[in-house]
Amino acid sequence: MNVPARSGTQAVAILAGMGPVRPPALLLAMTAFATVAFAQDPCVDCHAAQELEETDEVHLRQWRNSAHARAGVSCADCHGGDTATFVQLRAHRGVLNSGHPKSPTHQWNLPQTCGRCHDVEYLALQESSHFALFERKVRAAPTCRTCHGSVAAQSLGEGGLQARCSSCHGPEADHREAGTTGQQAVAQGGQLLARMRALRATRARVSREILRIRDPADRHEAADALFEANRFWEEAIEAGHAFHWSDWDAALGDLEGVLGEFEGVLGSTDGR
Ligand code: HEC
Ligand code: HEC
Ligand code: HEC
Ligand code: HEC
Ligand code: HEC
Repeated sequence: MNVPARSGTQAVAILAGMGPVRPPALLLAMTAFATVAFAQDPCVDCHAAQELEETDEVHLRQWRNSAHARAGVSCADCHGGDTATFVQLRAHRGVLNSGHPKSPTHQWNLPQTCGRCHDVEYLALQESSHFALFERKVRAAPTCRTCHGSVAAQSLGEGGLQARCSSCHGPEADHREAGTTGQQAVAQGGQLLARMRALRATRARVSREILRIRDPADRHEAADALFEANRFWEEAIEAGHAFHWSDWDAALGDLEGVLGEFEGVLGSTDGR
């Protein structure tokens, strides 16, 4: 995805509004789908008022604490249905249990549902050998939900990666991949994931520092430069979701270089 040129003023506004920088095209795609003001969302209001089963209660809680709820992505965005009515029967028009093969939340349809808003990740995942497994309906094949949960939009830690990959890449089932065992590939993935975490924090810190630059021209220039650097983040996300470890490593290296320069210039040392 190409990041279109933008003025420093716009870049500053984006930094101020969002903390971690998002690619603009993706952002637009997301806001187009997102429903605003979930406080008046009949799906949420009625469900919150129900005596819920344990699993549904957990689901609702995960949603409430998620980046999705904060961004106004709500029940109907994944489940369908009609949000213009409080009448249960009408609201549920088109809503199917996730066990139904036609439901957008059914295991085999879910990546596509997530992919409506997260096209970069969805397209990248389709490049990996795992997607072929998914298409052959191998239940354990890793997909969006494996790493992010169904609604929580959480990010997997290193331990989680081990747990979810070892069924196929564990000591008993180690297949070879470009000279490394499957287990080594998973361990490398864990290291890359940890670097990604650290970079996310650095990037947020740098964008805060930039907003503190007094001189408007300097501030705009720096914001522009950080915006440019966001393409390495995108590359990293893309390579990671395609399971292309060496590309992932390279993109993170580029990002580390650029953010390192920023930190040198800005002299930001808070917290590290
Ligand atoms: C007036 C109350 C009410 C509204 C409005 C409502 N729901 Fe529900 N919903 C329920 C109740 C009660 C259940 C559980 C009983 C049932 O299966 O019908 C339920 C069940 C569900 C289920 C599980 C269905 C299944 O077959 O297992 C989903 C998914 C769902 N609702 C999504 C939504 C979405 C999305 C919206 C908004 C478009 C919505 N609901 C609006 C009350 C409501
Ligand atoms: C990001 C997508 C997403 C959002 C947003 C979302 N859900 Fe779900 N929901 C799922 C998935 C996927 C499942 C299937 C079970 C699972 O993986 O946990 C599910 C399962 C359910 C179920 C259990 C019945 C079934 O079909 O399996 C209910 C009830 C439900 N959701 C209601 C809601 C309500 C109410 C909201 C809004 C507060 C909501 N969901 C928001 C993705 C979502
Ligand atoms: C209707 C659009 C939409 C759908 C469908 C959707 N998401 Fe999201 N997702 C968003 C938005 C908007 C955000 C918030 C972006 C931000 O934080 O700037 C987000 C954030 C995320 C994040 C990042 C969380 C963070 O802390 O930065 C993950 C991971 C994620 N979604 C995974 C999923 C998965 C998995 C599914 C399918 C089960 C899904 N999304 C379905 C719109 C959507
Ligand atoms: C092998 C685990 C894995 C799978 C499978 C996976 N992701 Fe991710 N995803 C990650 C990791 C790791 C990150 C980076 C987390 C971080 O920044 O700390 C991430 C980040 C994201 C983000 C945030 C992107 C950003 O710019 O910060 C979104 C959105 C997302 N994934 C959506 C998806 C969707 C949609 C799918 C399915 C098509 C999917 N992911 C499949 C592991 C996975
Ligand atoms: C259902 C079994 C299964 C699970 C679970 C699984 N993998 Fe794989 N993985 C495979 C297969 C099969 C291949 C292709 C191997 C080959 O061609 O030699 C593969 C290939 C890979 C590759 C090489 C890149 C590629 O696309 O060929 C990496 C890296 C990898 N897996 C990492 C992971 C990680 C990390 C997880 C956990 C999120 C995971 N795998 C979970 C079966 C699995």
